[in-house]
This record gives sequence, C-alpha cells and structure tokens, in this order.
Amino acid sequence: MPAPAPVNAVVDLDVTGPTISPHVYGHFAEHLGRCIYDGFYVGEDSEVPHEGGVRLDVVEALRALDIPNLRWPGGCFADEYHWMNGIGPKEDRPRMVNTHWGDVEENNHFGTHEFMALCELLGTEPYVSGNVGSGTVREMSEWVEYLTRRGDSPMARLRRENGREEPWKVRFWGIGNEAWGCGGNMTAEEFAAQARTFATYCRDQGDNRLYRIAAGASDDDYPWTEALMRTVSGLGGRGADDRHGHAPIQAVSFHYYTVTGPTWEQKGSATDFTAEDYYRTMLKAQGMERVLGGHARVMDAYDPDKRIGLVCDEWGTWFDVEPGTNPGFLYQQNTLRDALVASLHFDVFHRFADRLVMANIAQTVNVLQAMVLTDGPEMVLTPTYHVFRMNRHHQGAASLAVHVLSDTPAREVDGQELRTFSASASVRDDAALLSLTNLDAEQPVTLVVDLRGRAVGEPAGELLTAAELSAHNVPGGAGAVAPRAFDGARLEGSTLTVELPPHSFATVRLPLLG
Ligand code: AHR
Repeated sequence: MPAPAPVNAVVDLDVTGPTISPHVYGHFAEHLGRCIYDGFYVGEDSEVPHEGGVRLDVVEALRALDIPNLRWPGGCFADEYHWMNGIGPKEDRPRMVNTHWGDVEENNHFGTHEFMALCELLGTEPYVSGNVGSGTVREMSEWVEYLTRRGDSPMARLRRENGREEPWKVRFWGIGNEAWGCGGNMTAEEFAAQARTFATYCRDQGDNRLYRIAAGASDDDYPWTEALMRTVSGLGGRGADDRHGHAPIQAVSFHYYTVTGPTWEQKGSATDFTAEDYYRTMLKAQGMERVLGGHARVMDAYDPDKRIGLVCDEWGTWFDVEPGTNPGFLYQQNTLRDALVASLHFDVFHRFADRLVMANIAQTVNVLQAMVLTDGPEMVLTPTYHVFRMNRHHQGAASLAVHVLSDTPAREVDGQELRTFSASASVRDDAALLSLTNLDAEQPVTLVVDLRGRAVGEPAGELLTAAELSAHNVPGGAGAVAPRAFDGARLEGSTLTVELPPHSFATVRLPLLG
C-alpha cells in the first residue's frame, strides 16, 4: 500500500488558547482489587520498602509524572465507604465486605490518614469522593470538618486524638459517584436534589475552599448533565447560591471508558487482539471527542461564561481481566494499544481546555488502564505510564491550535471514520511541546508543520513504539516498551517535518528563541 500523503499543518506559536488544566493529568485509586492493598499500600510489616506502609517504588515512579491529584476511595466503593471506620488504631477499625469488587473483606487499614500521607509522598492534591449512596449528609459534612478544620471542634479534636494536629488542605470534593448506577440507582433529578443538599453541608472551613464536583453522566447521557446544570447553574431551579452567596457545586463530572466487545462479559483480551480489534478500540477512544463536546455544549447553554467546570473523573481502557485473576479485581495488562488510547485522549483534553478542568485515568495501579503493575516486590512501568511522562509539560501550559490543512489520514472501521493521525500542542515557559500520534498499524505518516509567530531552536523528541501493537511490560521483566530519543523531527527555517513510524506516539519539544 502506498504511504499516505503528508499531513500539512500550521501552528501559530504566538496565538495561545486557554490554559490546559494540570488536573486533566489526574489519577484515581479505588479500594478495588490490588490497587490500594499490594499496589499503593503494603502495610507497615511488609518487606517491600515502604514508608508508613506506602510502597516507595510506586511512589518514586509516580513522582516522575507530576501527578496533580489523586481521587479516592472510589468509584463504586466510595458509596459504601464510611470514613470513620478508617481512622484510629488499625486493630480497632471495623471491617466490611467490598461487595462491588470481589466480595472480599476490607480491613480499613488504609483510611483517611494513610491516604493523606500517600498524597504527601506523591506531592499531589487529594480528591476525596464522598458517600451519597449509603452515607448521610452529616457523615460527609463531618469528614470535611475532620480533614480541614483548624480551630477547635469535635471533628478537629478527633483528628488530633488520632495524631494529626494541623488540618490538611483538601480542595477537590466529590459528591457521590455514578448515582445512576452503583451510587444509588437514582434518576438525574433525584440525584441533583441530593447533590445540592450534600454539597451545601460540605462547608468551607477557614481558608480551605472546597471545589465540589457532582457525580455525573455515563458516556453520552446528556440529559443527566442537563438535569445537573439546571440545578447547579440556578436556571429553572431554586438557584445555585447558598445563603452565604457561594455556589454549593463548582463542577459536574462524567465517565467515559474505552470498552468494546459484543457484551460486557466479552470485552476482549488486553493482550491478544487482531488489527480489527485494535482499530475498533481506537474508534471507541476517538468517541471521547464527541462525548466531551456533547456535555460541553449542554453546559454552554446554561453556563456560557464557563464558571462551572467539567470533570471526566474516570476514563481509560476496560478489557477482560488477565486469565487466572479474580474477575472482580479488574487486573488487566497494558500494551502499546493502551498507550495510543491515552495519547488520543490527551489531544482531546487539550482541545477542550476551556471547559475541562480535570480528568482521572482509571486506575493508577494494578486496575484497568494502570500506570504501574506490581507482583509481590516487583513493579513495572506500563506503556501508558510513558505517555503521561512524555506529555507532562502540557500541564498548566497554554494550548496551541494545530490547524490541519490537508485531509487527515483516515480509515473506515465498522462503517465509521477513524482518523489515524492526531496531534495537540501547547507552550509553557520557554518551549512548545507537540504531541503526535500515528494510529495506522502499518503505514508511517509525515507531518509538515508551518511554525508561525515565534522563532524556535532545534527540536528534541521522544518516541514510543514497539514492533507489535500488543507489546507490553511484565513485572520483574525488562520493561521492553519504553520511549527512546526520537530523531525523526527536523527543522528547516520555520518548517518542521516529522516522520512518524506506524503505531507510534511522539513528543517534540521546540525551544522558543527570543
Ligand atoms: O473504575 C472501576 C469502576 O468503574 C468504578 O468503581 C465505577 O465508578 C465505574 O463503573
């Protein structure tokens, strides 16, 4: 097959768009399978190097990603979690059954203090997801008080009795999760009313200003977003402002997973797939653009000034679990295919920088599309990890439009168009960063970019690819899928030419001159 025609594009380096929120590179850690226990937390008696039970190899790996926030304790688990069971001496903490995930016993040894210690080790902001489904307004309100109140109060005293004098800073607060399903099987209107009440009693304690995120829609359930927006924006409802003049809810969320397969029980193997399966996965991943755009349009109708944020607090691939593992633990391998799903998503997130304030990949360790996988004392970085690291300079950068002038290479998949080339760009400090993805499994693609507005120096790049789409890394193995220096970008005058190999992801950094 002849190589596709070059893609011609223009990037105006001096015409910056909205800032890319660092928080779109957010993470998610649920009490699910081996994400918390074994993954993040091995306990204080473990021989795996740890600090207060938090494993240090995982912390060190994740610190290199500049993780902006970590969502916890769920997911579906959040709506069964009662935080008071997770404080105080470990031997006294009540146990519970994790009914959603494997029907296993949860000993509550990883609770509020352990989570906050983990965030401190990672240098990340906590995003606490509160229980609406089976919790009470008072319970959630007291959790906020326990975490964030400086002065004297019952909850601040309890925190001090448990060894923490100073309050923590907690900004991000989730009001429920998937309330249309595991979070209470509510209608959108029922949940909107609940969310308003719960959020009202999550008080700003002192200077700790909460950013309250109401649980949102699944996929393209735009009516759910509309019901929330009616309440949150104050249009058509009782008004969004509480008696102090502060809106009780600052953002609404939605979830979008890259899941294909004829049924939920047959999502397909994470590692054993055909080229057709691969393209189908990419088509589903590309759907993020349509779905995010759909929610953003609904929000624009109610909130044209974009005061309310959109959050995608669960995204990523969802395949069948690794053979031989607990089906309730959602442990899946992670291949080059997963990495390209991630790079596609980030391009979309960058394009929606004006509305999207946060996104959280599901999930950071040992669950679904993970950054790292562990096996006893072994740990390995996944291909997805490398996309997060290669892209990290987009965090907090000013977005740049990539104007593609020619037809974007595409192919037909199940009667729909899959664009096989994707790009995004931003500028921060003294450099621009281009992220480039070639989804074509067999053909390289050439990109010719007319760089306008600013002079740039020599490009420096990194490339992530592998001989096989299904290439992956195994805990204890060599970590074969890893980025390498990229010599496929060259600059002549203001023209940047990039040769992207098949099924690859590259970043190109351009230092700004003058
Ligand atoms: O990430 C796994 C699960 O997916 C979460 O617990 C839930 O919110 C979603 O359905």
